[in-house]
Amino acid sequence: MTPIDSTMSVPVAIVGAGPAGLMLAHRLGRAGISCVNIDIRSRDEIETTHRAGILEAPAARDLVETGVSDRVLRDGHEHRGIELRFGGRPHRIDFADLVGESVWLYPQTDVFIDLADARARDGGTVFFGVSQVDVTDAVAAAPSIRFTSADGARHEVRARYVVGADGSRSVCRGLTPASERVQYFREYPFAWFGILCRAPISAPELVYAHSDRGFALISQRTDTVQRMYLQCDPDEDVTAWDDARIWETLQARVAGDDGFRLREGPIVEKTVLRFRSFVQQPMRWGSLLLAGDAAHTVPPTGARGLNLALHDVKILAEVLTRALGPEGESALADYEPRALGRVWKAQNFSWWMTQMLHSAPGASDFDRARQLGELDNVVSTRAGRAYLAEQYTGWPSEG
Ligand code: PHB
Repeated sequence: MTPIDSTMSVPVAIVGAGPAGLMLAHRLGRAGISCVNIDIRSRDEIETTHRAGILEAPAARDLVETGVSDRVLRDGHEHRGIELRFGGRPHRIDFADLVGESVWLYPQTDVFIDLADARARDGGTVFFGVSQVDVTDAVAAAPSIRFTSADGARHEVRARYVVGADGSRSVCRGLTPASERVQYFREYPFAWFGILCRAPISAPELVYAHSDRGFALISQRTDTVQRMYLQCDPDEDVTAWDDARIWETLQARVAGDDGFRLREGPIVEKTVLRFRSFVQQPMRWGSLLLAGDAAHTVPPTGARGLNLALHDVKILAEVLTRALGPEGESALADYEPRALGRVWKAQNFSWWMTQMLHSAPGASDFDRARQLGELDNVVSTRAGRAYLAEQYTGWPSEG
């Protein structure tokens, strides 16, 4: 291996420069703690990967109040509810009325852009597009990370703590001792076919549609670009779907007695998103701490993933700040108990929304009729609607 060109020492090295890793760096920076983020993806690659679009109101407020950016208030859209469609009828879940909360439609890519810009503005050290990453002694008292930056230079970062915020294909999660970790895992027999299209908005809020032909979700991006998803096979070949077939399928899944129709336009992107539920425990071992998708992933149905990651790093920033101060390492023991309660609540919510709205292959008439009974239970009483609203808008923070 080529010799090291630069050596840095920081209290915290963060593997990953997606929203979780960058928000952690931003929060630590505000506490006067310097850190380095590295990511194998280029900034452009992260920016052009479309992800979910819903931020809990406290997460949106945090972007503004911690000084990342107030762009969410200008370019985001506050949504005070969602629509559940089933049996060909719309049912509104009014978050504002039920739980006094709202959510913000603000795509994850925009959260990322705001955070990356804030790091650059505040003089943060972020290496995008790195390769040959090697983490040594991750769980021991003096971890270090060696990597090659995009310009070909070799670097070593010595740190007191390493945070694995390196996403659902995390390398860091494998650095905890195999004998000490437990992985909880569930795969689903369906996926989402996601599209971006140039078309006007079809509905003022998100529409989660259950139908005999499978699930569909109608979301938005701007006045002229929309995001929609339809349930598909995990191995679906997107090239087999032309625009006409996609629109016909989406229209059939949202059709109803009210004559609701989607406003169509050219489809500019098609991707398949696989579903999995995953948790690795413990979230901390020695000097290594896991955050966001590296520690847990959820299916996208309840839009929990990004929110959960931002909640993790809120707690982690506070705990690391204490650990690096007079309190010392014992402060780290607070991280997992405070993060994990929400992780499992979100796992349950994401699974629950998923199983309630999708048709599993081979589902029987009983299964479909039972699902309609469950949906009816949710929408027909205030308690049922509030149960969904409370979870969709996020739980009270333990941070
Ligand atoms: C999105 O807009 O991409 C989106 C919104 C809600 C979800 C998932 C994805 O549950």
